[in-house]
Amino acid sequence: MKVGILGLGTVGGGVVNVLKKNGASIERRTGVNIQVILAAVRDIKQDRICDTSNIKLTEDPFEVVNHPEIDVVLELIGGTGLTKKLVETAIKNGKHVITANKALIAKHGNKLIQSANKNKVRLLFEASVAGGIPIIKSLEQGLSANKIESLAGIINGTGNFILTEMKEKNRDFDDVLKEAQSLGYAEADPTFDVEGIDAAQKLAILAAIAFGTELQFDKVFTKGISNITTEDINYATELGYTIKHLGIAKRVGNGIELRVHPTLISNEELIANVNGVMNAVLVKGDALGTSLYYGAGAGEEATASSVIADLIDIINNQTSNHILGWKSQEKLTVIDTESIDSEFYLRLLVSNMKGVLAKITGIFHQYNVSIEELIQKQIDENNNAHIVIITNKVNTKDIMGIKAAIEASEFNQDNMQIIHVESLD
Ligand code: NDP
Ligand code: HSE
Repeated sequence: MKVGILGLGTVGGGVVNVLKKNGASIERRTGVNIQVILAAVRDIKQDRICDTSNIKLTEDPFEVVNHPEIDVVLELIGGTGLTKKLVETAIKNGKHVITANKALIAKHGNKLIQSANKNKVRLLFEASVAGGIPIIKSLEQGLSANKIESLAGIINGTGNFILTEMKEKNRDFDDVLKEAQSLGYAEADPTFDVEGIDAAQKLAILAAIAFGTELQFDKVFTKGISNITTEDINYATELGYTIKHLGIAKRVGNGIELRVHPTLISNEELIANVNGVMNAVLVKGDALGTSLYYGAGAGEEATASSVIADLIDIINNQTSNHILGWKSQEKLTVIDTESIDSEFYLRLLVSNMKGVLAKITGIFHQYNVSIEELIQKQIDENNNAHIVIITNKVNTKDIMGIKAAIEASEFNQDNMQIIHVESLD
């Protein structure tokens, strides 16, 4: 099988290294010799993390997608502009395509899959979600007997690495982000990681596969981790919780919730203990019940593991010309996140005057919201205090009402921090 690679950076370099290391055993298992014959890069003179002595390099990526001998194209450049054209061309030229590019699939996947089906080729993207975890294959194969009720997961390695280092080593957000970039975990534009866009793209892909719907990336409620402070992390710890950046997709009646946001989860839940660059996805199916998929969410060889698994999938089905695509799509409306019920963590900064607590609890009473736990701490010599509250399960609209009422009051000193609290297991 002749393979052409677009991009030889973290993931592309990892693919070449893993094929070099395990190519012989893959050949024994599949009976097929995989040869990477051509790879496109931006700068041919740059040092590589892999041996390129047997690979022709080019700075023209269209040479790869138009090459007559190439059977499979691996798109490992990233972004949605050039790569869309490259993938479309490869598909039209009758080549199977494997990509790790969740941005491309989330934005253009519906059309690209149609085009792949029309051209009787496969478009696979296991590596686009949760790096090395075979979560797409698990949903499509191992869990295929189930009606999926929900899935929730840590699906961005960079964000989890940042939150873990902030919690465990008290490190500064920007400092940890720089390290994640140097380790090759972060996206070319790291705001995709910290503002939740990358996780929203992945959630859209998972939800489409789990629920058999179209990709609906533009409907995912998305909130990042950039406003999570060390104080929030410490208060959460004091209350027995860990803050994780979760993607949640849940079937509710005839609709689905699709949301990505920081979330307090009890330290006793399995996902609370998924740290560093590791990812985990918890899936609830009606037959199996709950199952958890755990592994490295980013990095060279971990991601290469998923890319090559797709390649082997193509080898195993090549003669039967198996086509990937959503079968008959279910119509599930995405529920407006402003109307969902949840528990919440609230952090207020107030002047610690007499009667403030009574005024705050009065506002909660007006909205019929109960307080489960409360911490009050004086934080400076100006008599300012943090009040941290965990609510019972309430409607998001009521919390927004409480926020507006408190922020309008004379004792309030800052915007209120609001974080969802969920129980998953
Ligand atoms: P890198 O930035 O490490 O690598 C990108 C590669 O693409 C580089 O080799 C670069 O060339 C090449 N490239 C860029 N522009 C062009 C161009 N115009 N023509 C030809 N080649 C080009 O990215 P990653 O490997 O980290 O990511 C690749 C994809 O994989 C992205 O979609 C990302 O979201 C996804 N992904 C990444 C993971 C990770 O852990 N990093 C995990 C899962 C998915 P040059 O080297 O010469 O600059
Ligand atoms: N930037 C992504 C992450 C890469 O940190 O999870 C893996 O998709």
